[in-house]
Amino acid sequence: MNARLRLEKLRQTVDVRCTGARPGGFRFIDLFAGIGGFRIPFEGIGRQCVFTAERDRFCRETYSANFPEPANSEHIFAEDMRPWADAPEKIPAHEVLLAGFPCQPFSIAGVSKKNALGRPHGFLCDTQGTLFYDLARIIDHHQPPAFLLENVKNLERHDGGKTFATIIHVLENELGYRVFHRVISSTPWVPQKRERIFIVGFRDHGIGFDFDQLAVPEGDGPKLGSILDRKVDPKYTLTENMWTYLQGYREKHRKAGNGFGFALFDPNDVARTLSARYCKDGSEILIAQKGNRPRRLTPRECARLMGFEKPGQTDWKIPVSDTQGYRQFGNAVVVPVVKAIAQLMQPRIIEAMNGREVPQTVQVPLPLPEPGIAAE
Ligand SMILES: C[S@@+](CC[C@H](N)C(=O)[O-])C[C@H]1O[C@@H](n2cnc3c(N)ncnc32)[C@H](O)[C@@H]1O
Repeated sequence: MNARLRLEKLRQTVDVRCTGARPGGFRFIDLFAGIGGFRIPFEGIGRQCVFTAERDRFCRETYSANFPEPANSEHIFAEDMRPWADAPEKIPAHEVLLAGFPCQPFSIAGVSKKNALGRPHGFLCDTQGTLFYDLARIIDHHQPPAFLLENVKNLERHDGGKTFATIIHVLENELGYRVFHRVISSTPWVPQKRERIFIVGFRDHGIGFDFDQLAVPEGDGPKLGSILDRKVDPKYTLTENMWTYLQGYREKHRKAGNGFGFALFDPNDVARTLSARYCKDGSEILIAQKGNRPRRLTPRECARLMGFEKPGQTDWKIPVSDTQGYRQFGNAVVVPVVKAIAQLMQPRIIEAMNGREVPQTVQVPLPLPEPGIAAE
């Protein structure tokens, strides 16, 4: 290695040690971040997360425990993202925007009225008051070369398809992006049926992104046995009362001719979707136990069910109560699904960044202190 290369390597090492920044690659922001399901895979392929927004304090606790920032980090950890959408110039420059945004209805009636009045309508009118509107304002200001958004599968059918049509219209026609979307089931990666819609956008319309090229593992996919612990604290076994109640509830609905009620699984099965309400009674995914009442999954098993850690490992930090832990995993993305999308996006992101200068040392403007904005 010659002296210049050695010096460059040393500079890069210092960069990573001091600021958490990886040399080359892209900077990204993590909106509606939850516990960071997007950040894990994008940290693997990008350079640095420069901005995170998450309102829930328990999610923030888990996120900070798993993504500690060095003392001199330029990363900003915001709470409510809405004040930042009012002043998007305070969000650091970035090449990729990530967001699993909450779904809210848009006032289409308002749009028709504005049309009738002959007034121009755009996302400023159509989506005002929604979190998508705030997201759109940030994209509009920063024009990142690429973004990845995620939502529930039902987004496509929400309000008779109008919500989705508005979102795509805004991204394509008003923000000027080329947009691709695909509903992806997590079953090839984890033993859980969880279908989510992913929306990818590139500012450069020449980018040849193709969701059909996604590297989906072949075969039947893993079964629950691969994520279950052998020895589990008896506190996760349903109480006599709860088990009696759940059986009665299911019987009542069976007689009424519908299939509501608990679902029992064994190690050879694939679980239903883990929901944020799992903490209530765990009835959507109960694990059968020989000679005993069924049990819930532990939060650690949920971490594996969502792909936050591999079977047999316990490296994901869960600093919160079981109730909060279940809520956080039930709201999260399946990490290996996002990893596959990130890997498909990576060369296209680099292509899309061509022509855009990306400084080696990230200069992040410090935001002015404002009520409602917490910066690290
Ligand atoms: C569907 S979850 C995202 C989960 C995330 N993708 C993950 O893997 O953990 C949506 C998140 O948006 C957060 N949120 C909702 N409104 C917000 C706002 N105005 N500002 C910041 N975060 C918000 C919620 O607290 C929730 O954690």
